[in-house]
Amino acid sequence: MKGNPIVIEVLNALLADELSAIDQYMVHAEMYESWGYTKLAEKTEKRAITEMKHAEKHISRILFLEGRPIVTAPIEVQIGEETPQMFQNDCESESKAILAYNRAIQRVGELNDYGTQELLKSILKDEEDHIDWIEAQIDQIKVIGLSNYLVEQTGE
Ligand SMILES: [Fe+2]
Ligand SMILES: [Fe+2]
Repeated sequence: MKGNPIVIEVLNALLADELSAIDQYMVHAEMYESWGYTKLAEKTEKRAITEMKHAEKHISRILFLEGRPIVTAPIEVQIGEETPQMFQNDCESESKAILAYNRAIQRVGELNDYGTQELLKSILKDEEDHIDWIEAQIDQIKVIGLSNYLVEQTGE
């Protein structure tokens, strides 16, 4: 099915963001793992995998619309040096994603592509869950302190 070129452009921009998020979260997950924060590593790796599923969905939709998926766009990765900064950076990435998805949902609606809009709405829900979890961690650190929080992240 021939898609609107602007919709394909919108999807490719979202795809680039997802590919950046995958890299950022994979690196953060490995950093947590290397510090022994296994629970944090697992959660972050799971988030990276969810972003990968989002990227797959964009690629598949672009192909369905007979467009060309662009996977060579420059990636923008913000690696933090320590846990609080890593949460902060991930929080920023998710908040940018939420803004981008909301804008894209509106744009593809204006172009009457409600199939793409449904897809984007389901991804937006995941991004909202992501930021919710990260914000909860930032709040927990404020309440119990960083060292207590990190002790809880070790072990199985
Ligand atoms: Fe995503
Ligand atoms: Fe996300």
